[in-house]
Amino acid sequence: MSVRNTVCIAIDGEAAAGKSTLGKMLAARLGYLYFDTGVMYRAVAWAALQRGVDVHDEAAVTSLAEEIDIQLALPNRESGQHSSVFVDGVDVSAAIREPEVDQVVSIVAAHPGVRHVLRERQRQIGLTHNVVMVGRDIGTEVMPDADLKIYLRAPIEERARRRYLELRARGEEISYEQVLNSMRQRDYLDTHRAVAPLRVADDAIVIDTGDLSIEEMLAHVLEIVHLRVGARL
Ligand code: DC
Repeated sequence: MSVRNTVCIAIDGEAAAGKSTLGKMLAARLGYLYFDTGVMYRAVAWAALQRGVDVHDEAAVTSLAEEIDIQLALPNRESGQHSSVFVDGVDVSAAIREPEVDQVVSIVAAHPGVRHVLRERQRQIGLTHNVVMVGRDIGTEVMPDADLKIYLRAPIEERARRRYLELRARGEEISYEQVLNSMRQRDYLDTHRAVAPLRVADDAIVIDTGDLSIEEMLAHVLEIVHLRVGARL
């Protein structure tokens, strides 16, 4: 029995499986906070690149994660970004989605020290808000007693295509093959790291997003939410 009196819905899954699109819409429908935990790992990776910290140096990157102030704000409608993210007061919302950050974020996220620091901050938010939390280890590590756990998956070619279109729409000069290779590498690192690797929680509901439109996915998940969490809404 949970000691929380708030509701937490965990959405985990691979890169570009549709977690943030679904999470944001679900949170808006339920009037919950939307919290994309990946932006915290991206913020640390961005800060490491900015300050010339070696991303392979666990002690240095962990100190950086402890030092920097990461603030999240609701997405700005005009920006087209998922969430506004500030590192020590600097708006890094667009910068943390650049391919340079994509390249190193899984290395940063594999350090146990970094995960420890960020997990505690994420848990504080998860324990005190009605929240839809999106990430890789929400259902398994951050909020193992989440009221509902959803795991999204889609074939890598489909996920790479989505990410490619997103990057091209932002004017990035990148090929589909580069995106596919980078995603393959990220999937490998996310699923093979020693601490909190990406995996399906035993009690998660797995949804294949490849064949579903976002509206279909949202309707399906809302149905599950009302069945499972209905009494607490
Ligand atoms: O969801 P995303 O692509 O923005 O995540 C960026 C990286 O952070 C990704 O390589 C996996 C990692 N991550 C994680 O390890 N745990 C989380 N809860 C969220 C993201």
